[in-house]
Amino acid sequence: MNTKPAPDLVVQNLSVHYGEQVALKDVTLQIEGGQILALIGPSGCGKSTFLRVLNRLVDRSAEAHCTGEVFLGDTRVLDPKTDVVALRRAVGMVFQQPSAFPFSVFDNVAYGPRLQGVRSASRLRSLVESSLKQAALWDEVRGKLRRPAASLSGGQQQRLCIARALAVSPEVLLLDEPTAALDPLSTAKIEELILALRGDYTFVLVTHNLQQAARVSDVTAFFRQGRLIEIAPTRDMFTAPKCEETEEFLTGRYE
Ligand SMILES: Nc1ncnc2c1ncn2[C@@H]1O[C@H](COP(=O)(O)OP(=O)(O)O)[C@@H](O)[C@H]1O
Ligand SMILES: [Mg+2]
Repeated sequence: MNTKPAPDLVVQNLSVHYGEQVALKDVTLQIEGGQILALIGPSGCGKSTFLRVLNRLVDRSAEAHCTGEVFLGDTRVLDPKTDVVALRRAVGMVFQQPSAFPFSVFDNVAYGPRLQGVRSASRLRSLVESSLKQAALWDEVRGKLRRPAASLSGGQQQRLCIARALAVSPEVLLLDEPTAALDPLSTAKIEELILALRGDYTFVLVTHNLQQAARVSDVTAFFRQGRLIEIAPTRDMFTAPKCEETEEFLTGRYE
């Protein structure tokens, strides 16, 4: 359960290079804590890189080099002195392919709390139950907690991954095309779940599904070729984009 307030996200002049290649160029944006930011734009425009900066997963690419400033609340994300383990605990991430561990449903959700030193069986049970409830999965799995996660459907596994992320009390949730591999019903469940959690966490949602961005986000940012072309309240972006490039993308004139 989240107890800390969701932090504001402030990005100032962020550029990311992979060797010679520019993945993000001079991106400046901010959203308030608890808002849902959707990132849209053609493949390769830097959306995943943006997410990977926020939890410093980008550090794992030896070639990657970041400049600029990124704040999550008071935390200077890019500062070499920042505690990356603590940062990653605060910033949960969910990927396109459900990445459930090859354990039981229960052990997937209990994984993070156990790593953090929670040993009490009753405390673990209550954390697992509350996280699965938050992820809108409890009713479907309450009698199957000892079954392998792989026995769940793809949509259930994706909600399990969200439950696993929630179990360590993050403040920020990064979702990288979380429904791209799911059917429409499972997609609708994930969207409902995001909306139900709105306000409690700061969300950054990458999606290729423009209707999804329109349905769930507060603010939408359109990227192209590593640049932030336009950012606006979602309703404004979809009804009256200011840039021609945005309008062309929204009306499907290029992928
Ligand atoms: N680990 C990496 N090493 C080198 N180049 C990369 C790496 N990851 C991404 N890129 C490049 O950076 C650019 C942005 O990629 P990415 O952030 O994955 O875009 P998106 O998620 O919008 O499709 C692309 O040109 C991609 O090829
Ligand atoms: Mg991507």
